[in-house]
Amino acid sequence: MPLPSQNQPYWISQSNCRQFNVLDGDIDVDVAVVGGGITGLTTAMVLQDLGKRVAVLEMMRVGGGTTGYSTGHLDNWLDELWHVAIRKFGESRARLVAEARTTAIDVIGRWDAEFNINSDFRRIPGFLYAEDESSAGELEKEFKASRSLGLNVEKIEKMPVSFPHAWALMFPSMARFNPLQYVCGLARVFTERGGLLCELTRAENFKEDNGECSVATNRGTVHARAIALAGHAALFGLYTIETRVYPYQSYVIAARVEDPVPDFLMWDTAGPYHYTRRASSAEKHLVIIGGADHPTGQRTDTDQPFRQLEQYARDHYHVQQIEHQWSHEYFTTADTLPYIGRVPDYDNIYIATGFSGDGLTFGTAAGILMADLITGRPNEWAGVFTPARVKPVASASRFTSGVFNMAWHYLGDRYITGDDIRSVNQLKPGQGGVITIEREKYAVYRDEDGELHSLSPVCQHMGCIVHWNNAEKTWDCPCHGGRYSCYGDVITGPPKQPLAQKPIEQLV
Ligand SMILES: Cc1cc2nc3c(=O)[nH]c(=O)nc-3n(C[C@H](O)[C@H](O)[C@H](O)COP(=O)(O)OP(=O)(O)OC[C@H]3O[C@@H](n4cnc5c(N)ncnc54)[C@H](O)[C@@H]3O)c2cc1C
Ligand code: FES
Repeated sequence: MPLPSQNQPYWISQSNCRQFNVLDGDIDVDVAVVGGGITGLTTAMVLQDLGKRVAVLEMMRVGGGTTGYSTGHLDNWLDELWHVAIRKFGESRARLVAEARTTAIDVIGRWDAEFNINSDFRRIPGFLYAEDESSAGELEKEFKASRSLGLNVEKIEKMPVSFPHAWALMFPSMARFNPLQYVCGLARVFTERGGLLCELTRAENFKEDNGECSVATNRGTVHARAIALAGHAALFGLYTIETRVYPYQSYVIAARVEDPVPDFLMWDTAGPYHYTRRASSAEKHLVIIGGADHPTGQRTDTDQPFRQLEQYARDHYHVQQIEHQWSHEYFTTADTLPYIGRVPDYDNIYIATGFSGDGLTFGTAAGILMADLITGRPNEWAGVFTPARVKPVASASRFTSGVFNMAWHYLGDRYITGDDIRSVNQLKPGQGGVITIEREKYAVYRDEDGELHSLSPVCQHMGCIVHWNNAEKTWDCPCHGGRYSCYGDVITGPPKQPLAQKPIEQLV
């Protein structure tokens, strides 16, 4: 189900997406793709080109997941920094990662033109800049690392902006686009060429038996020779992948400003960093700024990151008003590279997840790679992204903190941390919180009419305690990023069942 928030991304007002039917009973295809975001639709398009009959299953609408909530930066700069990646994976593997990202930008640009998608794709420079001299050392290392990978990068003393900064790295041939318009375009082309795309169709389970696969949905069963899981999160608890991906929430505002916004991408070196672009070719006075990331479910006052971004906007631009704000979730991995490939223990089931904040390019590369693997074509990227990889040194600190995070939220949130509220009378309309009554925990939401809704806060995935997200009006799980609506329905992540209803009598 879509996020029930008033916080809708700017792209929704700018895109014209058609709707597709639900799955109507059982069908048989070559490949079932779960997920109608950039990863799933790219996979489907490439497979279709290779002559496969493909069905895409999307539980919401096309682009209604993270893709439609992203900021449409297309770059080959790495969230985790190239010099760190080279240290962890070695130069030759890092070069393959860079190649995958660069290829993805080329593919998006080519398809946008070839299929008349009109996603406002533009080649523009990207700048990674330091606000002050303290991060100059990092930038210097990043410059050398980027060059050693063969990336086109230059050192720049002054970006063409009015706010003060130290120096910057310029990546000349990056791009921006409208991500929602792009995936809606892919959906149109895929279906016009005979592909089956089913919206409001949720994959609930799967089977693999003697080389035959099936995906059971709420609308029928899809029989297939292979399944590509492109649901963004680590779906279905396969292998150990879900314990090696970590959920973060990222925030975005679109601010109308007095002076024209320069048409390039920008990222600063703050932690978490800010990412900035002009909204579109036509909207020269609308700047889109993202950032203020934090681990999912670990902050109740989720209005505060929006205020932080607004302050950043006011510090850097003459802001007239904030016109849009939204947030969404992304997943990072133990060793920071995505998991893309065949799921160990299965012959014909493939997954792509853990793209961090780079999933428009990684998701596109994942589509190409999964299609190659499914059709048995060689692809050099396979070894780098395989979900079977074990990188103890590269993964150790994140893996340990991920395990600690899970243990803390499983036990600590039950027995140690305090509740959000002491009485349900504290809740104003539109607010929620966790409360303990007679040693039992309740997740309580008061709707806009003042009526109380009571749920168990125990996540249906692996039992962590969910937290209230006041900006999105959702219940968010801090362990593996499962998110539920204020009424307990699953929005995203590994949980399959809604939060259990709990009798309300105890509360009043
Ligand atoms: C605020 C924000 C800004 C970002 N900005 C950028 C950016 O500028 N550049 C960049 O490269 N990356 C960016 N990212 C990351 C990027 O948006 C994602 O990594 C990328 O969109 C992932 O695409 P996807 O297709 O894998 O996932 P999604 O777009 O989430 O698509 C997955 C789809 O699967 C569906 N699904 C899930 N489970 C099921 C199921 N059981 N049955 C059927 N369907 C299912 C979902 O409904 C969803 O539509 C950003 C992320 C965030 C949070
Ligand atoms: S998402 Fe795994 S315990 Fe909640």
